[in-house]
Amino acid sequence: MIDFHSHILPGLDDGAKDTETSAAMLDESVRQGVKTIVCTPHYYGKRSSPAQFKEKRQRAYEKLAPYCPDGVQLRLGAEVYFTTDSVVCHEDLALLAIEDTRYILLELPFLKSFSNRLLNKLSEFIYETGLTPVLAHIERYRAVLENPSVLYEFQQMGCLFQLNAEAFSLKPTQGFAKTMLSKGLVSAFGSDMHNNDDRAPNLKTLFDSLQGQETLVQSVFERSGAILNDEQISVQPKKVRKFFGKFF
Ligand SMILES: [Fe+2]
Repeated sequence: MIDFHSHILPGLDDGAKDTETSAAMLDESVRQGVKTIVCTPHYYGKRSSPAQFKEKRQRAYEKLAPYCPDGVQLRLGAEVYFTTDSVVCHEDLALLAIEDTRYILLELPFLKSFSNRLLNKLSEFIYETGLTPVLAHIERYRAVLENPSVLYEFQQMGCLFQLNAEAFSLKPTQGFAKTMLSKGLVSAFGSDMHNNDDRAPNLKTLFDSLQGQETLVQSVFERSGAILNDEQISVQPKKVRKFFGKFF
């Protein structure tokens, strides 16, 4: 399993507070069968430049790396907050792509709806950097759940989607998440783990929530593997619609 979204690195954000916590999160992830963890600490442009952030991230990684068992990989990325009022230019933000790949994990603002200004800025970002955004925990945005047709606009720009494992078990999102999976629109799963308590490693729960759909789950992990190998991913754009509270 590949955990594409995690706050496992110590002392960088609201995730693991120290190396001991990080190591315990790593242990639990490995116990669940995770082989690759993409470390994606929050990046908010106002606090540090991408270059400063990467230095701090490297130091945090070096604290955790000795605890990483053979056969398990930690990869370095960031959960980059992308808004219309970002102070960091696109070229600098591109430094936060996942290691040497063309992919970057972006978090969008939690608004009632996404403005055209935001969509245009995202489109410009893609054009100027040549990167492919993977949109983090796409099920968590009210703007998406209430108006899933916006997903089609993201797909046409070339964006990919990451879902959190909990999306498949929580009532408000499970219908949406299962529709996304069945349409082949999920490119990555994440635990979005922050600690060992209320936001703990949970990737294994995917197999409890999605019994009988193991092949689909596996195909998402394969796609995530291709992303981490910097392979070109092609996903056929598909519409997701909502009627009477259900997703189709
Ligand atoms: Fe996150």
